[in-house]
Amino acid sequence: MANNINRVVVVGTGFVGSSYAFALLNQGVTEELVLIDLNKEKSEGDAMDLNHGLPFAPAPTKIWFGDYRDCKDADIVVLTAGANQKPGETRLDLVDKNVKIFKSIVNEVMKSGFDGIFLVATNPVDILTYATWKFSGLPKERVIGSGTILDTARFRYVLGEYFQVDTRNVHAYIIGEHGDTELPVWSHADIGGRSILEIVEENEEYSLDDLERLFINVRDAAYHIIQRKGATYYGIAMGLVRLTKAILQNENSILTVSAYLDGEYGQNDIYIGVPAVVNRNGIREVLELKLNEEEKEKFAHSVKVLKEVMNHTFQA
Ligand SMILES: NC(=O)c1ccc[n+]([C@@H]2O[C@H](COP(=O)([O-])OP(=O)(O)OC[C@H]3O[C@@H](n4cnc5c(N)ncnc54)[C@H](O)[C@@H]3O)[C@@H](O)[C@H]2O)c1
Repeated sequence: MANNINRVVVVGTGFVGSSYAFALLNQGVTEELVLIDLNKEKSEGDAMDLNHGLPFAPAPTKIWFGDYRDCKDADIVVLTAGANQKPGETRLDLVDKNVKIFKSIVNEVMKSGFDGIFLVATNPVDILTYATWKFSGLPKERVIGSGTILDTARFRYVLGEYFQVDTRNVHAYIIGEHGDTELPVWSHADIGGRSILEIVEENEEYSLDDLERLFINVRDAAYHIIQRKGATYYGIAMGLVRLTKAILQNENSILTVSAYLDGEYGQNDIYIGVPAVVNRNGIREVLELKLNEEEKEKFAHSVKVLKEVMNHTFQA
């Protein structure tokens, strides 16, 4: 945050990181974009390739393949490095490998004198966001995980299809772990100000069974995509761009991110997906939805599952 020029650094230019860089360039979000990867050839190649798109971009962007010293003047460092899920693997299975990788990456970033905002997407994202917060020593507001931003987008998409309404007019959240224990907040899901549960009750063409099936598809979407093409990246890349814009343009946008809970939802000392207000300072506040009993139980279960893995990981 040393000058008025916005700089975003991406660490890990694999499927997710390079798709994010491409989406960022296409939307003209930042003036400077630095790419870092263990595989230097890959990030150098990506920088060359992206630069060749500049004549077609909506705004000038300076893009280069860099190293950790470039993080010093960065506003945002986006972490997309590490192992991804193989077919059949859960996100939690990746924890040991990726926590080790994160320890070295976050140390390198902090050694540069970085004093901006971390955005984390690597899985299991809730635990790696917690690890980034611990390893960096930055205030909790300035460490943000992508959380359930993608799951919420998938949810809004399938609900838009089901009710034949523009997905952008669907307001509905997935909260909890970005993973198998996430949950839909049906009690606060609405379209154009009308509760989705009410719409279903009043129209026999819709049913609660269908809603449950839609949610299961959302929860398991990554498995379905990974089975077909090996990885998921476009959706999360656009979600990360959305978050980047909310930060750089000081939007006060409400997005479902992995945020640190300090009493909200009756939980402490955990990063998990919840709606939060995001602006130039990071997370301004966590929004505490009034959950019904079933939702409360499911959320508490999600927290419990994450904490069990965290206890094991951070004690080891
Ligand atoms: N949060 C989400 O919603 C979401 C969605 C999709 C994928 N992901 C996660 O994003 C992560 C990346 O997925 P991907 O498909 O891009 O994987 P990938 O294998 O294509 O890319 C990972 C990159 O990280 C680099 N890397 C590994 N160790 C590094 C280190 N120490 N320093 C710098 N770079 C290093 C690798 O060289 C590689 O280029 C995975 O953990 C995946 O599960 C998250």
